[in-house]
Amino acid sequence: MDRQFLWGAATSNVQAEGAYLEDGKGLTVFDTMPVPEQPGIISQYCDTSIATDHYHHYKEDIDLMAEMGFKAYRFSAVWARIHPLGDEEEPNEKGLAYYEDMINYLLSKGIEPVVSLVHFDMPDHLSKKYNGFYDKRVISFYARHVRDLAERFKGKVKYWITYNELNHVKGSHSDITAGAVKPKGMDEKEYFVHMQHNIALVHATAVNILKEVDPDCQVGVMPGIWPAYPMTCDPDDVIACEYLNKMENCIQSDYAVFGEEPWYFRQYKKNRNITCELNEEELDQIRSASKKLDFIAFSYYSSVCAKAPEDRGLSLTEQEDLVYGFGPNGTKNPHLKANEWGWQIDGQGLRYALIRLYDRYHKPVFVVENGIGIDETIDENGKLYDDGRIAYYQQNITGVIQARDHDGVNVMGYLAWSPFDFLSAHKEIRKRYGFIYVDRTFEDIRECKRYRKKSFYWYKKVIESDGLDLINDVTY
Ligand code: BG6
Repeated sequence: MDRQFLWGAATSNVQAEGAYLEDGKGLTVFDTMPVPEQPGIISQYCDTSIATDHYHHYKEDIDLMAEMGFKAYRFSAVWARIHPLGDEEEPNEKGLAYYEDMINYLLSKGIEPVVSLVHFDMPDHLSKKYNGFYDKRVISFYARHVRDLAERFKGKVKYWITYNELNHVKGSHSDITAGAVKPKGMDEKEYFVHMQHNIALVHATAVNILKEVDPDCQVGVMPGIWPAYPMTCDPDDVIACEYLNKMENCIQSDYAVFGEEPWYFRQYKKNRNITCELNEEELDQIRSASKKLDFIAFSYYSSVCAKAPEDRGLSLTEQEDLVYGFGPNGTKNPHLKANEWGWQIDGQGLRYALIRLYDRYHKPVFVVENGIGIDETIDENGKLYDDGRIAYYQQNITGVIQARDHDGVNVMGYLAWSPFDFLSAHKEIRKRYGFIYVDRTFEDIRECKRYRKKSFYWYKKVIESDGLDLINDVTY
């Protein structure tokens, strides 16, 4: 089927909106999460009460997206804006009305809304009272939330993403991604398995409801992909790489597409004597959802290298646990440069991810998050010459175009991260991602006035040329 390539960008609304207690909204885990300790971070400047004030600027922000020529915009409908506590029966009308206005405004500008569910926005109450998605009751509250959104936006929202980076629900990261923490005394591998089961069920629940309410909508699963390359051609590094790729990147999308427990994940449990299982009814839900899944969405920032452990005297299971653990996995690639935060820049990694996903699942693939964080400020004339961002996108979009036009991958679209600046996942403003600068500093909120960066005009040209003109020659 010939359809328009979905050029645009994406954001996470809890990181951008602010207005965190306005119009009946409840607190989310992102609002209450303590700021991770990092040099120079002062937690008092990292609250989400204003963020970059997208709540009050959304029309202006959408006007600017339209000026860039966006065909699509991905945002998240913040759970606690619709269900402030999460376990109440009735949705908050003001929250629904807010997103409805946003959707109507996008459509009036010819921009297709792509709506994400669950993006760091678990209602804080569900996290504190039930331990988030660790507890299956929370899946039924989520089901109610999804139904309320699906019914309200039926016929208006065509593209849904069930869960942002659902494969990152592991280790200590699960507090922000799933509102859950490992119960005291529980083994971390058992916790990991339990969460993988529950998240596969969360995703399936959303697909089944969305398709029941609106059979014409398109639903995607969305892992965060960090493709691994073998560090060397030593066969042990190749085996380590294969293992890392499957465990890090594939478990949830395999559940979502194949509708059953992935064989290597079953073996993971067996080799570690973990007996926890999904029941037949739950497996049926997963099976049924897999038949309705339309596309594979994913975020991509960088690649990693995989290396077999030095100590070959360890058992195979011990070696695996060193290759794939619950902190950051993989090692740096000596061929690549990195940004200020040490994230390596690898446009071919994006091409590689697209090829691998299409090869594995044979479904349309959609890049829904890709960008670079830079610590930057406008000059006295309100200008920002962000050539570093342009260079990053040149590499990454080249990877997308090569995958689409040369390799023959069915790529649905490309959404950059992000249209405008907002708080990073560490809740601070210094790591800016936007094509549009938001004038606030770390310490001073100011008026959050919007300014076009140089990359704004460059990306406009990229969209106009369908990704074929990436030259950095815009006058600014
Ligand atoms: C992704 C998240 O994991 O990474 C985003 O979906 C986040 O919400 C992005 O902003 C970049 O990470 P960070 O830490 O630079 O904000």
